[in-house]
Amino acid sequence: MNRRKFIASTALAAAAPLVLTNFRLFGADAPSNKLNLALIGTWGRGSAHFDALADENVVALCDVNSNHLAFGLKKFPGAKTYEDWRKLLDDHQTLGLDGIVICSPDHTHAFITNWALNRGLHVYCEKPLANTIEEARIVRANYLKNRKKLATQVGTQRHAFQNFNRVRELVQDGAIGELQAAYAWGNRQLRRPGYLSAQGTPPATLNYDLWLGPAPFHPYNPGYFTGKSQANCLQWNMYWDFGNGQVGDMGSHTMDLVWNAIDAEPPTAAEAKGEAVNPEVSPVTLETHFEHPANSWRGPIKVGWYQGGALPKSPRDYIDLNKIDHGAMFKGTKGFLIAGFENRILIPYGDDADLTYYKRRTKNELVPPLGHFQKEWFNACKGNLKTSCDFDYAGQMIQQMLLGLVAYRAGQRIEWDATAGRVTNFAEANQYLSKPYREGWTING
Ligand SMILES: NC(=O)c1ccc[n+]([C@@H]2O[C@H](COP(=O)([O-])OP(=O)(O)OC[C@H]3O[C@@H](n4cnc5c(N)ncnc54)[C@H](O)[C@@H]3O)[C@@H](O)[C@H]2O)c1
Repeated sequence: MNRRKFIASTALAAAAPLVLTNFRLFGADAPSNKLNLALIGTWGRGSAHFDALADENVVALCDVNSNHLAFGLKKFPGAKTYEDWRKLLDDHQTLGLDGIVICSPDHTHAFITNWALNRGLHVYCEKPLANTIEEARIVRANYLKNRKKLATQVGTQRHAFQNFNRVRELVQDGAIGELQAAYAWGNRQLRRPGYLSAQGTPPATLNYDLWLGPAPFHPYNPGYFTGKSQANCLQWNMYWDFGNGQVGDMGSHTMDLVWNAIDAEPPTAAEAKGEAVNPEVSPVTLETHFEHPANSWRGPIKVGWYQGGALPKSPRDYIDLNKIDHGAMFKGTKGFLIAGFENRILIPYGDDADLTYYKRRTKNELVPPLGHFQKEWFNACKGNLKTSCDFDYAGQMIQQMLLGLVAYRAGQRIEWDATAGRVTNFAEANQYLSKPYREGWTING
């Protein structure tokens, strides 16, 4: 009997009244019930997961940089080490792997994720889940096929902040009346002229070919690697072949504040405006606008994303939205709600500004806290498979964000058939749904 079947059968046994006193032994948090996990990307963002991972069995580590691998090995000395994530995944049975945590650069996310799902592994993937709409659709479809046995989570850990629940409650309970529009923004600005030119040779400690992975070839330049731990992503994420700039970076976190409140279906149309398109680098200044269909509790709404200095109009002159680095705003028929990740401001307006139209929840009706974000996934792998940012939710959300970039590159309003995954009113825009990969790399491995 393999480990997972053992856990499943013991969980069943635990449900029987006879073993009720033993229940704790088999509960999600029981020490006897540890996951066998692999960490891919063992420095930078990977190290932010060390403490949570230490509660489980980290059986394998993978990094293309041997110094970073050694760094991870210090924390998890018993783990087997790999340079190539494909070899690690090949060994999943001998390692007894239950799941993987992906903290490598963005251009590898959808590839590693999809290969892992194909091998029946639970996946936690750092944001953004994908770099193109095609990647996001492949990964989401694979997850939907496997959702009755696999737990997934995208690393938008701010989702666990209590403020996310409070914002959802205020919007859905009518504190701003009927919802009409929602906006998110981020004011980070990383100006890059174009891919870095060839400079020097990769150090012996770095397998640059594997770092490039599926991305088209670009010559080595140390500039891609000079960032501080947990911020090195800012050295490469502006380049189209490695990332999507703020859309995939802080956009993944900030649009989550909006999506968590609006129960979004995919948008039906998108348009964008921003600086001139650069074929090598994603834009600094950009705004993208989406038309979202009605759902069971609200009418159709507009959703907007603003970055690099672009901002929605503040409802009050004395509120400078730019002072909220990464924020969201909800516009309703009776007021505005402005939110950062951890706090919010409610601005009722008009004749009803006394808020008598709004019935506040009692304490015990509040959305319960999510708890520890990474551990929500551990527990999901061990039990109910439920996470807050699974590849269905996060896969849809990143598609919306990326559709904004498609509209930006297409240079016009586009209409979107989310079922078919096609732009319907401007065929040329469909070229921006995917991107080329280096020979020898496939996402369906
Ligand atoms: N959730 C958050 O708040 C948050 C914060 C920072 C970064 N991130 C995300 O985490 C990821 C990593 O960011 P970072 O700043 O740590 O980047 P980084 O450039 O420091 O890379 C992280 C690690 O991955 C390794 N690596 C690179 N290519 C690899 C490959 N093909 N296989 C295995 N290992 C590989 C690197 O050597 C490095 O040790 C990014 O996708 C970024 O968006 C998320």
